[in-house]
Amino acid sequence: MILIDGKKEAANLRLELKKEVLALKAKYNKVPGLTVILIGDLAPSQIYVRNKEKSAKEVGLKSEVIKYPSNVEEKTILNKIDELNKDDTVSGILVQLPLPKHIDKKKVIETIIPEKDVDGFHPVNVGNLSSGYESSVPCTPLGCYLLIKKMEPNLSGKKAVVVGRSNLNGKPMTQLLLKENCTVTITHSKTKDLKEECLKGDIVVAAVGIPELVKGDWIKKDAIVIDVGINKIDKGIVGDVAFDEVSKIAKAITPVPGGVGPMTIACLLKNTVECFKRSQR
Ligand code: GUN
Repeated sequence: MILIDGKKEAANLRLELKKEVLALKAKYNKVPGLTVILIGDLAPSQIYVRNKEKSAKEVGLKSEVIKYPSNVEEKTILNKIDELNKDDTVSGILVQLPLPKHIDKKKVIETIIPEKDVDGFHPVNVGNLSSGYESSVPCTPLGCYLLIKKMEPNLSGKKAVVVGRSNLNGKPMTQLLLKENCTVTITHSKTKDLKEECLKGDIVVAAVGIPELVKGDWIKKDAIVIDVGINKIDKGIVGDVAFDEVSKIAKAITPVPGGVGPMTIACLLKNTVECFKRSQR
């Protein structure tokens, strides 16, 4: 069994990006910039944002975090996004989710211009991805995709099963696998005979948010298993895959933590660099 080392792959990707940022700086005399907006004081969001800032600086991006209290008015956020949309030194804008209830997530996402939408959440980017055109791709599925490609460069004709249909993970993951000519089955918490569906997968991506849902006898021998879950339970943090069982069957599996997580942040930096490059064309 191969333990897919997301930490190592993310470090490799950051190193590549660092070199690319240096080359861009030499060519354009400026570097890509990432601005993150953080509203409120949720602990997980604060940790994510701190990690994003640290990684962005490590690869040489211009990095800025703008913080607001949880009672900030929606208009203040939308005005700030408008300002950042027009700022040439800002290549990518990310508003950390979840948002306080009085702020409309859809409005916030749609105010960021698609060209600076490093999350790939804007409907224009969602549409472009689904049509197979160039777009920003949500960071977590992009990270999963890069890990899968590393394990199996030719995915054509492979059977892929995605467990979970969220806009954040499941749906964009499906689009990326389809683009690689996989035969993709999208399943979710209401799917009948989920076990039988998973057993068909050469590749199984679990992104459903149910702790240790995918069991050892749900997985075909020699499958590649990618675990997007981060679930807090009594014994600690676990994924959506029962790791101890599945790791005895699968050809390769991502651990939680240390699998998909580190790749997500590295892919955010990648998206920022891509946005910058597109803005220079
Ligand atoms: N909160 C948790 N994951 C994400 C993400 O990928 N993007 C944003 N904007 N917020 C998040």
